[in-house]
Amino acid sequence: MNYSNFSKNVLTWYSLNRRDLPWRYQDNLKKDPYKTWVSEIMLQQTTVTAVIPYYNKFLVRWPNVKKLSESPLEDILDFWSGLGYYNRAKNLHLSSKIINTEYNGFFPEGEEEIRKLPGVGEYTSAAIRAIAFDKNDTAVDSNIERIIARVFCLKDPIVKIKKDIKKYAKKLTPKKNNGDYIQALMDIGSSICLPKNPLCNSCPVIKFCQAKKDSCTETIPQKIKKKNKPIRKGSVYWIVSSDEKVLLKRRKNKGLLPGMLEFPSYGWSDCINEEIDEKILSIKNLKKRKGVVSHQFSHFKLLLTVYEKKEFNINDINGIWIDKEDLNNLGLPTLMKKVFNLVNN
Ligand code: ADE
Repeated sequence: MNYSNFSKNVLTWYSLNRRDLPWRYQDNLKKDPYKTWVSEIMLQQTTVTAVIPYYNKFLVRWPNVKKLSESPLEDILDFWSGLGYYNRAKNLHLSSKIINTEYNGFFPEGEEEIRKLPGVGEYTSAAIRAIAFDKNDTAVDSNIERIIARVFCLKDPIVKIKKDIKKYAKKLTPKKNNGDYIQALMDIGSSICLPKNPLCNSCPVIKFCQAKKDSCTETIPQKIKKKNKPIRKGSVYWIVSSDEKVLLKRRKNKGLLPGMLEFPSYGWSDCINEEIDEKILSIKNLKKRKGVVSHQFSHFKLLLTVYEKKEFNINDINGIWIDKEDLNNLGLPTLMKKVFNLVNN
């Protein structure tokens, strides 16, 4: 295969068909690695459609490293609500402080320095360096893995051949315009080289694709059966005071939903917000059971039984008491929004 023709075709296709995404640079705009970094962190395990509104608002609120590093972590966590994987918000904040103190507020360019930032792995570092600094690091996400597996007709399940895929991807990586090249592959992966029924006739690299030649695009990559995720159970408490305020707590700054606001919940994570609160737990015995919410975390499914207690004495318990009407404006994680909806619908 002529590797440079492969990337040429990809880049030509991109100049005509690229998605117009808010973190992408127009030719005449100076590149800002801060923006690339924020977008790549947001795009980890999250779809482009979900990220776009968050990305735009994030940049208005925190337009640069300095502003981000000066912000209280709670503000960033509350902003992040609904986007999931909250450690990413913590890592952005922590990294902004590192960039400020160690690199004078300038986003580092070297691979070693970028990789040291919390939350930045091999892929994210390569993507940032390619997109913001025009380096020819090889970035391979799951869309790109599928393209490479098909182009080289690699029949084993992707998890078993990650190293080989990286090796092949590296051969194709162009010396110039690598940022555009990898973003082009992402676009091809999400609109043409689809997991099922790929649109090969629209593909700019069809002539390089061995899987197409061998008629095995449907079986590559080989699917492996996903294991059922374990189930965890716990309880959550909707507690309302006599003057219609609802009790919230802020979770500990580590573990699941770190630093996020929650209705007091127990029994499902290693990291409960504080010592078991007997006053709250005794509500369970009142059998005011409202129902169960289910929520999918990356490694388990959670079933939370929701209990309700009205006319609670505000002085009986420490926490954040909020007017019910104001709950909508707070940064509640999706799990807690589900609890809110269950009780209020
Ligand atoms: N997913 C991760 N990074 C991306 C980017 N720069 N464009 C589109 N999708 C992406």
